Amino acid sequence: MLVLGIETSCDETAAAIFRDGTDLLSNVISDQIAVHSKYGGVVPELAGRAHIEQIHQVIQQALEQAGVKLSDIDLISVTRGPGLMASLLVGLNVAKGISYASGIPMIAVNHLEGHLLAIFLQENLELPYLALGVSGGHTDLYHVSGFGDYKLLGRSRDDAAGEAFDKVAKMLGLGYPGGPIIDKMAQKGDPKAIAFPRAWLEKGSLDFSFSGLKTSVRYLVDKRRRGINKHSDEDIAASFQAAVVEVLVKKLLLAKEQTGLERVVITGGVAANSGLRTGMQNAATQNKFQVYFPEPIFCTDNAAMIACAGYHCFKKEPGRVTSPLDLDAKASFPL
Ligand code: KG4
Ligand code: ZN
Repeated sequence: MLVLGIETSCDETAAAIFRDGTDLLSNVISDQIAVHSKYGGVVPELAGRAHIEQIHQVIQQALEQAGVKLSDIDLISVTRGPGLMASLLVGLNVAKGISYASGIPMIAVNHLEGHLLAIFLQENLELPYLALGVSGGHTDLYHVSGFGDYKLLGRSRDDAAGEAFDKVAKMLGLGYPGGPIIDKMAQKGDPKAIAFPRAWLEKGSLDFSFSGLKTSVRYLVDKRRRGINKHSDEDIAASFQAAVVEVLVKKLLLAKEQTGLERVVITGGVAANSGLRTGMQNAATQNKFQVYFPEPIFCTDNAAMIACAGYHCFKKEPGRVTSPLDLDAKASFPL
């Protein structure tokens, strides 16, 4: 069974071909860093236009690299939401057009579902598991019981972890996207240099909050500008990252304790962070459980995870195939 995955929820135009639930034949990702970097963040209208320019060639490349033709495809899996409306509409409408013209069935996937199931691109993980989805738009803890069966346990009440990384990078004038830049810079700094606050919220809560941490970095950077402190960018990056990682690790351990789940998956763009990977791995070793990370290329936005999620959800529930004509994009789309 050949699945064509299409993803355009934010600023990556992506298409992938996934065979029989095991073989990833191609995974093409066209980013828009050059379009948005001078604004320090994603500009929705420009993102939509860039997707329109890229989408056809990205799909064509995915087919060519996989050595297959469009007529060989058995299922189209596309992101319906959540995301930027101008971006989502491009991938969804192209998928609808192809499906309508060719008769290939289509399945709509939630972008977060793609992140939660990305680990199946690498291994046939046993269900259930606890998943921490950390990206630019979300910081969520889920109990994953099966394909299409997810229970939200906790979420960020304000900024997502990735958003905090991007905003801190912007405050330091480091560029966009900020996460990977802070990650690299943190490796040269002292994580104990500055004691940034950690928001634990009420006892037992699995929710997150990163806006206080972000504001605290802003005050420190303002004071540095006025000559009140001399902290280096490296120490700020390392101390900020340490604060985020500590909260994510401790909340995950609490969720593990509350649910009794044995397997843990860390996924989404921030799961590519080297400090988070090391912190979670150490916690897993100390507490004797197994933690799984998708490879960094499957953590950040990609269409392979959308093809993978579409494949597994279709196998479990063929009724999820939708009529291409009456499917709309959803900017806000709870799982
Ligand atoms: O999953 P993703 O590609 O898109 C969304 O669904 O949001 O996540 C993007 C987010 C951005 O905020 C980006 O800065 C962050 O993931 N990110 C990282 C790293 N790589 C990407 N954050 C920290 N460290 C990284 N290495
Ligand atoms: Zn994402």
